[in-house]
Amino acid sequence: MSTSRRQFLKTLGTTAPALVLAAPGIAMAHDEKNSSNSGSSNNSSSTGPVSVPVFEIPLNIPPEAHPVDEDDEGRPIYELTQENATVEIIPGLQTEILGYNGMTPGPTIRVQADQEVIVRQINETDVKTTTHLHGGHMPTGNDGHPVDLVEPGDSQDYLYTNKQRPTTLWYHDHAMDLTGPHVYAGLAGFYIIEDEYERSLGLPDGDREIPLVIQDRTFTDEGALLYKKTVTGELGDTILVNGTPYPYLEVDTTRYRFRILNGSNARVYNLVLSNGAQFVQIGSDGGLLEAPVSRTNMVIAPAERLDVIIDFGEAAVGDQIVLTNKSGSGTTSQIMRFDVTEAESDESVVPDILSTIERLDPNDAVETRRWEFSRIPSADKQFVINGLPYDENRVDAYPRLGSTEIWELVNKTKGGHPIHIHDIMWQILDINGRPPGPHDAGWKDTFKLPPNGTVRVIGRFDDYTGDPDDIKSAYLMHCHILEHEDSAMMNQFIVVE
Ligand code: C2O
Ligand code: CU
Ligand code: CU
Repeated sequence: MSTSRRQFLKTLGTTAPALVLAAPGIAMAHDEKNSSNSGSSNNSSSTGPVSVPVFEIPLNIPPEAHPVDEDDEGRPIYELTQENATVEIIPGLQTEILGYNGMTPGPTIRVQADQEVIVRQINETDVKTTTHLHGGHMPTGNDGHPVDLVEPGDSQDYLYTNKQRPTTLWYHDHAMDLTGPHVYAGLAGFYIIEDEYERSLGLPDGDREIPLVIQDRTFTDEGALLYKKTVTGELGDTILVNGTPYPYLEVDTTRYRFRILNGSNARVYNLVLSNGAQFVQIGSDGGLLEAPVSRTNMVIAPAERLDVIIDFGEAAVGDQIVLTNKSGSGTTSQIMRFDVTEAESDESVVPDILSTIERLDPNDAVETRRWEFSRIPSADKQFVINGLPYDENRVDAYPRLGSTEIWELVNKTKGGHPIHIHDIMWQILDINGRPPGPHDAGWKDTFKLPPNGTVRVIGRFDDYTGDPDDIKSAYLMHCHILEHEDSAMMNQFIVVE
């Protein structure tokens, strides 16, 4: 094992300040490559410590996982092996990662709504892990609680009931205090739930339905992942999509469906197409919206999902359309490029009515809970909820099974926080007192709290209860800036009879 690998693994397994320590000057990011605009030729124009080609590598599409077996009750068993692996992310350089089946993102798991499956996670890394299915609604004990850790060499079976609307979920590591470095090192993958109804709509599918996870990373000049453990939120200077830096995708003159996930530790993106074309958003965290929403820019915070149609039928063969990030600068201002290469007829449709959404009624709420998110810069654990850092032995709420509650998420800081709640999907009642726009009016599990702002959400605790005496049956609420989560902006609740 090389020294750098040993150092990487050692630091991963501890709370040491960095995966690889920053060399002086690395912060001087390679800015020049952004001089290439939409429509420019395919030349590499990178500078800086690491030579990262822009729009030169085809988009990686993660392979789909297939069941390896079934259990006594006929449930398919998927098997993923978490591994320390070496991969080539930047051409010519080797990068040590933690990956499901040795890759990042891991294989995509695609299941049918209401079909129960087992996902067996085998931990062959040298760190303790736990796997959470983000947005998943499943019996307690299967949620990947941060202290429900799987030791190196062990495995754990997670039961996913998929008793929920079809949507884009993702699985990722959730180890106590180390979610940030573990996800940064590669432990994340897509989990897609679909159903017959959604397939009947005629939306783009097959090769034209593509998951895109956007992540920012910083690399050393040797290609190692540099994790600075920035408590306020780790920001990288290089954008990856599905693990590929600044990829390109060749497309036909047809509609495509992109399931976009912000899998970054802390970065918020504002997505805009370089040709000014509109995205047609059809879904959010919790599945299809009631009707499509046309948007020229879309802000996406860590862990949020956007299900969008881009119609390249409005473009011409030869067009190159860049997916840009309006809230980035320099190397973080562009993400990937779509190259329109083939004229094709389009059989897909985007229906005017996509789904029906049962509206939860605030009058049905039996409880209103207020959660204040604040920061104590002098504290060891800086980020707190209602003044308290996460304590695995403390439970802050016991909602009743089947009951509806309103949660007021109050941001007492000058920064934004994407707050995520496990177990159920919610509806946003208002953001700073105003009802959400149509793009935010579907089911959600992650909410952008504006600086010093308040978001009120309503949800119903259906189906699953925990055991008040078993902490591992608790569900979590936390900030999805993973360094805030690791710095204790997290608490837990147990649903009771
Ligand atoms: Cu995506 Cu509790 O996490
Ligand atoms: Cu989650
Ligand atoms: Cu936060």
